[in-house]
Amino acid sequence: MEYRKLGNSDLEVSVIGFGCWAMGKRYWGDDVDDELSIRAVHRALDLGVNLFDTADCYGSGHAETVLGQAIKGHRDEMIIATKGARVWDPATLEITGSDISAKHMIEACNASLKRLGIDYIDLYQVHTSYEGAPIEECAEALVKLQEEGKIRYIGVSNYPVEDIRRHMAKAPLASVQPPYNMLNRGIEKDLLPFCIEHNIGVLVYGPMAQGLLTGKYKKGDTWPETDLRHNNPRFHGERFERNLAAIERMKKIAERYGKTMSQLAVAWCLNQPGITVALCGTKRPEQIEETAGAAGWKLSEEDLAEIDRIIEETGAG
Ligand SMILES: NC(=O)c1ccc[n+]([C@@H]2O[C@H](COP(=O)([O-])OP(=O)(O)OC[C@H]3O[C@@H](n4cnc5c(N)ncnc54)[C@H](OP(=O)(O)O)[C@@H]3O)[C@@H](O)[C@H]2O)c1
Repeated sequence: MEYRKLGNSDLEVSVIGFGCWAMGKRYWGDDVDDELSIRAVHRALDLGVNLFDTADCYGSGHAETVLGQAIKGHRDEMIIATKGARVWDPATLEITGSDISAKHMIEACNASLKRLGIDYIDLYQVHTSYEGAPIEECAEALVKLQEEGKIRYIGVSNYPVEDIRRHMAKAPLASVQPPYNMLNRGIEKDLLPFCIEHNIGVLVYGPMAQGLLTGKYKKGDTWPETDLRHNNPRFHGERFERNLAAIERMKKIAERYGKTMSQLAVAWCLNQPGITVALCGTKRPEQIEETAGAAGWKLSEEDLAEIDRIIEETGAG
């Protein structure tokens, strides 16, 4: 495994982070199993993965509860990152909005600690900003949690640069967590240069575009309504076909190195300037075994240029 320092923190994180969203058993189909999720976490530890990213809202608490079971006996080997901000209806468990008021963030952090069964969180992240969000109030509440020893470092997710600046005027910032992959390059213009300039760690989510860039799908595939890919336009119609055409060509690059398409997608992220970690969503031990194999793979300038050319020529995105 390869490790990098997370921004200006003292955390040495594995470049492959274990993404725990599917562990929540909502929005990711019907094949998520708690026992398998726990085995996947333990397999990840064997492989040297030390960063585990979850959120209170993944399965409305379920993902944190399952990760909490997996942590038992392994706390010292793990860097636990979780998030707060989302609000859900306790009856239906449906997410109804976001709230980053001091009151909500403090309550959310305490609830996460309880579900995870730990007495401090290594990286506590604000899950999202939103219009009218009280950024400064939230930042000050997180500093208070840090002073109380409940969290070690602060991160933000889905924050535009302007909100990051506002946060940084009130509180330290170890990392950001934006979406990023070969097909979704939105952060390259403003966010990544800002993070490089300010030495902020960058944990990217969706490095395999929710599984699309694993290369396992084919024309005609469908997803049940319980699976978020049922409503993701990248997986439908002509756009899906353009993406599949690009993936077929990119698989040949991976094959030249004896690697898989999933590994190419993850390594591509890790070879971009400013990226610290690729958070790889994982349901089963064999998935993390494969994605962990992307660590340490240095792609050449020619490979990176060929990937750009394929995306341009196929119109993938
Ligand atoms: N901050 C945020 O707002 C935010 C948003 C999204 C995600 N995240 C974080 O980022 C993590 C990763 O993002 P993501 O889960 O959306 O997308 P992803 O990592 O691009 O895709 C994950 C999915 O790909 C499939 N997969 C993974 N490894 C595979 C392998 N080796 N072979 C074949 N299929 C494989 C699995 O689904 P199937 O088996 O069903 O195909 C898995 O659930 C999340 O778990 C979460 O921690 C954060």
